[in-house]
Amino acid sequence: MTRTDADQPTAGAEAKDVQGIDASRDGWSFNMMLDPRFASDPRPFYADLRDGCPVRDDLDVPGHKPTVLVSRFQDVEQTLRNPQQFSSRFGEGMGGLGNDRPLIPLQIDPPDHKKYRVLLDPFFAPRKMALLEPDVAVLVNQMIDGFADRGECDFTAEFAVPLPCTVFLRLMGLPLEDLDFFLRIKDGIIRGNREPDLLRQAEARASAGRQCYEYFERHLDELEREKRPGLLGDLLDAEVDGIRLTRDEILDICYLMIIAGLDTVTDSLCCFWSHLASHPAHRQRIVEEPEVIPAVVEELLRWESPVSGVARMATEDTDLSGCPVRKGDNLLVFVGAANTDPEGIPDADKVDFDRATNKHYAFGGGIHRCLGSHLARMELRVALREWHRRIPEYTLEEGCELVWTPMLRACERLPLVFSS
Ligand code: HEM
Repeated sequence: MTRTDADQPTAGAEAKDVQGIDASRDGWSFNMMLDPRFASDPRPFYADLRDGCPVRDDLDVPGHKPTVLVSRFQDVEQTLRNPQQFSSRFGEGMGGLGNDRPLIPLQIDPPDHKKYRVLLDPFFAPRKMALLEPDVAVLVNQMIDGFADRGECDFTAEFAVPLPCTVFLRLMGLPLEDLDFFLRIKDGIIRGNREPDLLRQAEARASAGRQCYEYFERHLDELEREKRPGLLGDLLDAEVDGIRLTRDEILDICYLMIIAGLDTVTDSLCCFWSHLASHPAHRQRIVEEPEVIPAVVEELLRWESPVSGVARMATEDTDLSGCPVRKGDNLLVFVGAANTDPEGIPDADKVDFDRATNKHYAFGGGIHRCLGSHLARMELRVALREWHRRIPEYTLEEGCELVWTPMLRACERLPLVFSS
């Protein structure tokens, strides 16, 4: 079923119940994001969204911009593959991230987007990432050393959060002592310090954003005086068509790395380990057959979709499968819903490590497809391999209730108990 203007869940219209949510009063997107059930298991919401989607959430609420919720495989594909029609220069009304300028390359449209990817892609190429693998394996083992003998850990705090951040600092050539600072500003920018109030969240983002710019300014000044190895120094020397990046451009790239490269891997680790802790057969397959790990990474990325969706803005009036889209509308593109759409993926509701092909949108699609996918895959593969070599048996702590964050799907605590 495709919804049109006439049957949108607007204020005062007849309610469409999404998992018991009164969409007529508060709108699908607002309500869904706030529902803790969406955060813990978005799949039933995705199914409801696909049933009635695309849907235009056109609420008469101050500060709310009409938002089109895109969830079917073919609509997600169409949106991501048409950057001219569906721009990435969103922001207003989608929750600013404390940044002064568009993030590079995420919020840059064609044709400029290409020049940044041409410059950045080689730094994140598979063979470059493979060089980091031995170092990441050592790091993973050091982290496991910290809790293996205890027989338990809080996976989030002791593994999923520090691992990608440490890898990132090493990649950039930044001091490892800055780990706590990075974790603080990342949480400030992405989650508004978890402040309950929206205004306070915006203040937290602005303050974290300022600190982020100041931090990188300071390090770039130092690097200009004295070169050190690492990506940050490499960016100072990088050129496209003989032209170097400006200071602002480098800052805008670094700002995005903090948002795109740290939390996403943490989210994926939380999603993977919570799944594996409650699916012993899947765990056992990894232990007995480690060569299946690359397929596990792809399948759990598809199934869990740690990044639920991405944002776009319509540049012209158009429609998606019959749903009107107006110039200036925001679009929330649920890659997680596409990844579990039976119309796009065979046996979409089954976790299957033996798929012949696995075309998923967990890393997005089209020109903005994730720059760090090879780094992320390598971190996830190494973590799965080393962990299951040393800790093959583990479960969730008895009675624990996991609390998940929506859209970027991490759990606040993931208490695991190991058994021999
Ligand atoms: C499993 C972990 C990760 C997931 C699930 C993920 C997911 C995504 C998604 C869905 C997009 C598309 C955004 C859009 O279309 O609006 C994206 C873009 C991006 N990601 Fe990742 N990401 C991950 C890890 C990383 C890492 C480790 C880095 C870098 C260190 C990174 C850097 C980026 C950048 C720079 C972009 C923007 C690319 C562009 O606009 O051309 N990501 N990522």
